[in-house]
Amino acid sequence: MTPILEVAGVRKTFGGVVANNDISIQVPPGKIVGLIGPNGSGKTTLFNSIVGYHPVDAGSIRFDGNEITQLRVPEIARLGMLRTFQQTRIYGLMTCVQNMQISARTTQGAPWQVMFNRIPPEDTERAEALLEFVGLYAKRHLRAGDLSFGQQKLLEFAMALMSEPKMLLLDEPTAGINPTLINGLMDRLQRVNADLGVTLLVIEHNMRVIMNLAEYIYCLAHGELLAFGKPDEIRNDQRVIDAYLGAH
Ligand SMILES: Nc1ncnc2c1ncn2[C@@H]1O[C@H](COP(=O)(O)OP(=O)(O)O)[C@@H](O)[C@H]1O
Ligand SMILES: [Mg+2]
Repeated sequence: MTPILEVAGVRKTFGGVVANNDISIQVPPGKIVGLIGPNGSGKTTLFNSIVGYHPVDAGSIRFDGNEITQLRVPEIARLGMLRTFQQTRIYGLMTCVQNMQISARTTQGAPWQVMFNRIPPEDTERAEALLEFVGLYAKRHLRAGDLSFGQQKLLEFAMALMSEPKMLLLDEPTAGINPTLINGLMDRLQRVNADLGVTLLVIEHNMRVIMNLAEYIYCLAHGELLAFGKPDEIRNDQRVIDAYLGAH
């Protein structure tokens, strides 16, 4: 099957630091793929390169039949690929529903349209349905800044779904989430994938989560691709154990 995302030979340096060296990954459409590796191994940099946050030094990136190597974040978002952040990006003074509304395709992220109430009713319906989906319906009129960190991450996840993406890149979705909520979040990620057909590429340090969620896993170390395989293969790969799992 043609991959929905194909990263080929990507290199990214910051001054003298080689954050990604000759990285190639392929994500088949409709799958959940994991990305693991020690801190500083280049995972977030790779996400930033894929979604057009910064230009790459070498290599090419294709998404859903498009050459996107030279495109920037808004153009890639319009093609249907978004990322979430290790730290959340929400407007703390706006309510949950308002944060959702500015994430809709119709507003293209322009907060003034929300402030002046130029919101199509279907956006509000979708916002409320997705807040229900992530378990935040009861808090929909609270200021987002008053939510707990874990709830803010759920809100950010729901915001990403607001624009009906084909693919989401999730940077450590369970980090900072109360352990009792992690199973519920995993279940939602699986439903977004299975029911809504959204392809997921997930950076995750929680090994139980990623081993259960992902069909394939890539492991980075020191900016290089160290290993690729099914969860069982990765779990038993001596290079991965030495570089990463041994420390967990
Ligand atoms: N904007 C930046 N400027 C300079 N160095 C950076 C920048 N972003 C990342 N790096 C460096 O690139 C390397 C990989 O970082 P990162 O991609 O954040 O790793 P990970 O997400 O796997 O923890 C690290 O050495 C980090 O210090
Ligand atoms: Mg990171």
